[in-house]
Amino acid sequence: MAKTSLYFDANADTVVRPEALAALIQAERETPYNPASLHRPGRRAQGVLEDARTQVARLLGCEDRDVVFTSGATEACNLALFGMVRGQAAAAAAPLRLLSSPSEHPAVLGPLRMLQAEGHHLQLLPVDRHGGVPQAALSEALEAGADLVALQWANNETGVVQPLEVVAEHAASATNFFCDAVQGLGKLPLPAALQSADCYALSGHKFGAPKGIGVLIERGSGLLEPLLGGGGQQRGRRPGTEAPALAAAFACALDLALAEQQSYATTARACGEAFWLALTGGLHSACPGAPRPLANHPQGPERALPNTLCISFPGLDGRLLMPACDATRIAVSTGSACSSGAPTPSSVLLAAGLSEDLARATLRISMDHLCTPAYALEGGARLAGAVARLYELAIG
Ligand SMILES: Cc1ncc(COP(=O)(O)O)c(C=O)c1O
Repeated sequence: MAKTSLYFDANADTVVRPEALAALIQAERETPYNPASLHRPGRRAQGVLEDARTQVARLLGCEDRDVVFTSGATEACNLALFGMVRGQAAAAAAPLRLLSSPSEHPAVLGPLRMLQAEGHHLQLLPVDRHGGVPQAALSEALEAGADLVALQWANNETGVVQPLEVVAEHAASATNFFCDAVQGLGKLPLPAALQSADCYALSGHKFGAPKGIGVLIERGSGLLEPLLGGGGQQRGRRPGTEAPALAAAFACALDLALAEQQSYATTARACGEAFWLALTGGLHSACPGAPRPLANHPQGPERALPNTLCISFPGLDGRLLMPACDATRIAVSTGSACSSGAPTPSSVLLAAGLSEDLARATLRISMDHLCTPAYALEGGARLAGAVARLYELAIG
């Protein structure tokens, strides 16, 4: 009988929570209308949308008007970066100085590169062995002056948590602060430093909402130029008909993710330890000559996502890893999900100092809120078996 796949790719996507799905279906069944329509059914749809906005604002500690619903975090990051830079540039005579790091997701690095091509200056800070931005380098660059800093909360590949507090310490300065908060939400407590971000982005499908809904929190800086022209919805910042049912599902999943954060983090850490032990122990027994796997995720809980392991297998041909994992029915990821299909090694791992070969021979294992230590043990054992077979072929 075929084994069922074990899922360890939560940083790419999570299953929709049943409660969020129920909220979606209920809203779509009961109020399937345009929330901008002035008739009674339209006003009911608007009620669902605005209730969701109020709930999101309450959960995140901001005002209703700060919540901009988008199609996901990629759109939210683009809206924030293009919107803030173009809004600011209109008032400034000179090109802007943009500060970020090579560990950012392509949803951030893409727009930054495009802004660079428009003539703005882009400085990418060096990163450490885990893709983390060193506090001293960040502080120094902020002291030297920047018009906008884009720094993620946590990295999707290595799980490193970035020093947002250093940016927050400079909050009184003229630097605008954008944070891609996608990977931290629901895994770590909301950091105080997030409150000093002018804008931050969230993605629903990373914490149990359906795909196709995200949020940009924009604290009314008045700087944001819209990306789209259209009907003026969401105070003109994101024109286009909103999706009340998706917004309701997002608010529901956010509520649950924040409520469960602590227990998820505790269980996910135990799962990570179980997975690592099963992997290293199983590999050593099955193929004693195989080199020990290398951990690229930070050690210790302070600066790490609790659910993420990033593991390199020295000497293995990275192209064989995914098919081997697939064959043994474990769903993991190489690099970020967006670049999984591409043969190029992860730019985050290269920036963190891995060689091209080692970066290619790296897997990300990320546990969702349903994972248990027993499930993780089984996953680690399956991966050990798959990797042992590859080492046997490679080293004989
Ligand atoms: C850190 C980070 N930022 C942004 C995104 C993009 O999010 P979305 O899939 O909602 O466009 C992702 C998705 O993988 C991510 O991990």
